[in-house]
This record gives sequence, structure tokens and C-alpha cells, in this order.
Amino acid sequence: MRKLTYFIACSIDGFIGDPSGDASSMFAFTDEEFFAFIKAEYPETMPTVGRRAMGFDDVPNKHFDTIVQGRASYDLALKEGITSPYAHLREYVASRTLTESPDPNVEIISSDLVGRVRALKAEDGDLGIYLCGGSDVAGQLIDEIDELVIKTYPLVLGSGMPMFRSATAVPLFTLESVRALDNGLVVRTYGRKR
Ligand SMILES: NC(=O)c1ccc[n+]([C@@H]2O[C@H](COP(=O)([O-])OP(=O)(O)OC[C@H]3O[C@@H](n4cnc5c(N)ncnc54)[C@H](OP(=O)(O)O)[C@@H]3O)[C@@H](O)[C@H]2O)c1
Repeated sequence: MRKLTYFIACSIDGFIGDPSGDASSMFAFTDEEFFAFIKAEYPETMPTVGRRAMGFDDVPNKHFDTIVQGRASYDLALKEGITSPYAHLREYVASRTLTESPDPNVEIISSDLVGRVRALKAEDGDLGIYLCGGSDVAGQLIDEIDELVIKTYPLVLGSGMPMFRSATAVPLFTLESVRALDNGLVVRTYGRKR
């Protein structure tokens, strides 16, 4: 069984962005140490264009070979004219409005999101599935999440987009590791208690 990991950036008060989802206030903390951490530990979570710019596009995937994201999150790349933002992963985008995939590497999930993700988890393989977000899709998949990797940025937004929208389950997690960067960013990893 492959793991579904929600790998997400949030504020101290648990928001993944402002009320519209805009997370650009967190960019101030993406410094040299942060990029070294990403390159060493989670290189595949960096969009392909960023990997190229940072000169590590050839670094092998470490945790994930598949990404799942909602159409609103995918739209951020589409608006830049990028149809395959994570070309180094198998890309799945949940959407009921995108009738045709804009890219051969991107598969649209238009129905039975939970069932499709369960099927991806049931596939053989050493690497897992990166749940990128956003809040809507994460809320629907909350019961399928096996691991949380939460990058908490040292800022308070006061209001914003929650990590999970409309989640009804109350899953429990065990803290597995904590890594603090010099700039105050803390990365916590939690495993699901089943
Ligand atoms: N801080 C971070 O690390 C981080 C990470 C990722 C995203 N974000 C932010 O999150 C925001 C987007 O989050 P969001 O919650 O608004 O949206 P989202 O989860 O990214 O996408 C929602 C869309 O997914 C599709 N969808 C949802 N449920 C579906 C289902 N059951 N079956 C098929 N399609 C389904 C729908 O697309 P259609 O309308 O096409 O049907 C829906 O509008 C962005 O602003 C982004 O910046 C932040």
C-alpha cells in the first residue's frame, strides 16, 4: 500500500494562504537553507521549472512518484502557460470542468476522487503520492491521508484558507519528526494512527 502524504505550507495559525489561497507571504522564508532542505529531503515537491532554475532537475524523486492536486491549485501553473508543473511525477488533477487534459502527463479525475486515490494507493511501488492541495481536495481526502508533512512558516495570517475544507473525519496522527530551520520555519512530520 502506497502512502498518501499531504505536504503543505502553512502559517502558525494553520492557514495555507490568505482567504483566496494566496501563499505568497510565505515566500520571504524560502531562503538558501530552505532550498537546501527541499533539495536534500523533498526534491520532487519543487515544481519542474523551479528545479531547473535551481539546477537540480536531475535529482531523483525521494518520497513520491505521483502528485494529486485540485484544479484551483493546478490553475496557478496553467495561468503561467505551464501545463505540466510537476513533469517529474505522474500528475493527477481533480476537476469536473476540465473536460480534456491540457497535457499528456496530466490525468484528470472527474469523478470518484476518493476511489481513484484509493486505487493509486493500492498500486505497487516504493514511492508514495504527494497530495499537494488545496484545501477543498484535501478536505475530501482527509480519511485517505497516511502522513502529514507540515511546513509551518513563522507568520500569523489571522484569517485565510484552512488546511482542510469541510472535513468531517477526526483522524489521529503521531508526531514522527521535527526539523527547525534557522529562519524559524518548522517542518513537522506526522504518521497516521490507524
Ligand atoms: N500553502 C500551500 O502549500 C498550498 C498548496 C497547494 C495549494 N495552495 C493554495 O490553495 C488554493 C486552492 O485551493 P482550493 O481549496 O481553493 O482548491 P483545490 O482543492 O486546489 O481545487 C478545487 C477544485 O478541484 C476540483 N474538485 C474538487 N473536488 C472534486 C471532486 N470530488 N471531483 C472532481 N473534481 C474536484 C474542482 O475543480 P473544477 O472547478 O474544475 O470542477 C474544484 O473547484 C490556491 O490558491 C493555492 O495557492 C496552497
